[in-house]
Amino acid sequence: MAVLPIRIYGDSVLRKRAKKITKVDERIRRLASEMLGTLKNAQGIGLAANQVGEALRLFVIDRSFFQAEESPLIVINPEIVNSQGDQTEEEGCLSIPGTYADVTRPLKLVVKGIDLNEKEIIVEGKGLLSRVLAHEIDHLNGILFIDHLSSIRRKLLSKKLRKLSAK
Ligand code: NI
Repeated sequence: MAVLPIRIYGDSVLRKRAKKITKVDERIRRLASEMLGTLKNAQGIGLAANQVGEALRLFVIDRSFFQAEESPLIVINPEIVNSQGDQTEEEGCLSIPGTYADVTRPLKLVVKGIDLNEKEIIVEGKGLLSRVLAHEIDHLNGILFIDHLSSIRRKLLSKKLRKLSAK
């Protein structure tokens, strides 16, 4: 499987609002497959298209993280249709390596989008899956998990972040 370079904090594509995908063509199918290869190689749970340099509304999640043998989840043009409760747990991001912090996310999230066949899909996430869904949708809006931290918490990470963006 193809492995694409993962864009690291400081890269402007991570701050772009990703564009809606109007047609699921061969290019999008290839991108989704390359993103799954990249995610697997990085041993991550989720990856948004911005993270491989494409500001398009598409993310992939490795569901085998939640249930063995589960097929990967590919969501195009995701929209949050319902959000309930909250949870606070430690979070990280493949684009901000070596950095972890507690982030509050919805406890349950329902997301609507389309799959590679342009068929509507509804994903219901609880706990960690809800967190990953929220994190990936944030990416598509140019938002990173560190944006959710208090200014004090972010200040504590600022040296690390400066180092990442200088690379
Ligand atoms: Ni991330």
